[in-house]
Amino acid sequence: MGILENGDNMEQYQTPLFDVLKKHSEQQPISFHVPGHKNGYIHWDRKSEPFYRDVLSIDATELTHLDDLHSPEGAILEAENLLAAAYGVQKSYFLVNGSTVGNLAMIMGVIQEGDIVFTQRNCHKSILNGLQLTKATPVLLEPEYHQQWGVAGGVTVKTVKEAYEAFPHCKAIVLTYPTYYGMVYELTPIIEFAHERNIPVLIDEAHGAHFIGGDYYPDSAIKAGADVVVQSAHKTLPAMTMGSFLHINSTLVSTKQINHYLRILQSSSPSYPIMASLDLARHYIATYKLEDQRYLESMISSFKGKLNEINGITVLTYPGSFGDPLKITIQSTTGLSGFELQELFETAGVYTELADPYNLLLILPLLKKDAFYPFDEAVQRIRKALGTKNSAVEMGNRHIPNYFKKNTFSTLYLDQIQQKSIGTVPIEQSEGYICAESIIPYPPGIPILIPGEEITKEIVESILLLLETGGRFQGSSELINRKINVFK
Ligand SMILES: Cc1ncc(COP(=O)(O)O)c(C=O)c1O
Repeated sequence: MGILENGDNMEQYQTPLFDVLKKHSEQQPISFHVPGHKNGYIHWDRKSEPFYRDVLSIDATELTHLDDLHSPEGAILEAENLLAAAYGVQKSYFLVNGSTVGNLAMIMGVIQEGDIVFTQRNCHKSILNGLQLTKATPVLLEPEYHQQWGVAGGVTVKTVKEAYEAFPHCKAIVLTYPTYYGMVYELTPIIEFAHERNIPVLIDEAHGAHFIGGDYYPDSAIKAGADVVVQSAHKTLPAMTMGSFLHINSTLVSTKQINHYLRILQSSSPSYPIMASLDLARHYIATYKLEDQRYLESMISSFKGKLNEINGITVLTYPGSFGDPLKITIQSTTGLSGFELQELFETAGVYTELADPYNLLLILPLLKKDAFYPFDEAVQRIRKALGTKNSAVEMGNRHIPNYFKKNTFSTLYLDQIQQKSIGTVPIEQSEGYICAESIIPYPPGIPILIPGEEITKEIVESILLLLETGGRFQGSSELINRKINVFK
């Protein structure tokens, strides 16, 4: 593995799936098959046609020479084999429904009903959904908390060991690496500890598909020996939205079982434009060279420097000074919330990945040498937009509630409480109740509350803070009335 070692590996310049689609489209085929737009022959109207024309010409279906994602033997298999070679794993799969489907299949393919599974509390909702579908018993590990950022990070090996002492029948560990904000942590000792006990470690690496791009980036969980790794190629590689990868890196898990669930969970009509973009994205990262890395490094360093010179904002430094360089987290120095900053950036036409009460998160492009990106234009617009704006919400003397803080490892025995009736309580009075719904600030899609979880003082404070500063939520019907569904 390692792009720099095989940056000149000619094999990785091939794009077999894209090539067969291109060839097919160039033959001016006559379609008597799905999809109904017939290679783009049927137009909706003039205004949409220019946007879709080219992409519809490769929006094909499982014709003989175009292979079949669910039973690949030709171009798709070749493309997946190149993917596995680029990442240095046994087997890789293309995913057309994001890391969401990868996380579900990885969990359902490895974990059985009733299994005790360790997972960090600040995981994406797809992890918790997967555990719920398998009827596993999650033991939620408390992540480290970074006070200055006001966000949770990874888990320590100490936490994993303590959890193992309390739950020695643990059957699997599911972790998120890196975090949404680009923080990384020491995975190797956790994986070694788990493997000594034959426990597989499954990693949601949704934000780390580019980590094989060289030493400017943190190591991928694959290098640390994780058994299964899921990556959203569409998040940091140039792939179409929903395009993702699943890698199998061990014999401790069953490839057959994971593939079985992928076949169940993925569409029987997977999108060829998405799959071809995965082929191209793999080619892009697998041919990423040292000179590309050095170029991007200097572009990012200059961009960060210029952002830091703008009055009213500061670029945060990663805890331990190392994290994903493609992520930049900004805070206001004049008391603006992250949401207010985001709004100001948007008035200047600069759109960011997410905001929270304190931070604004930017995801940068994985440029190759000499590629242009309008960083300077962005700096100018941001400087102008910030002007002399003052805060509407007083963040001055910040108390940052840590809603992941728990005294013990919390377990969710949903089946034991599901019989109870559900009612609503005002958020301010909800401390001590057991929550009956998921409350998920989105983005990032990390639940603040999940059904079966006790509502603590910190959780109440966090929800109120998010509501006051402009957070958006998924999953709750009552929050609009400042209420929460709870078990009575
Ligand atoms: C940590 C993490 N895991 C999984 C996902 C789901 O990924 P996708 O959007 O590719 O389905 C996300 C999406 O934001 C995420 O942030």
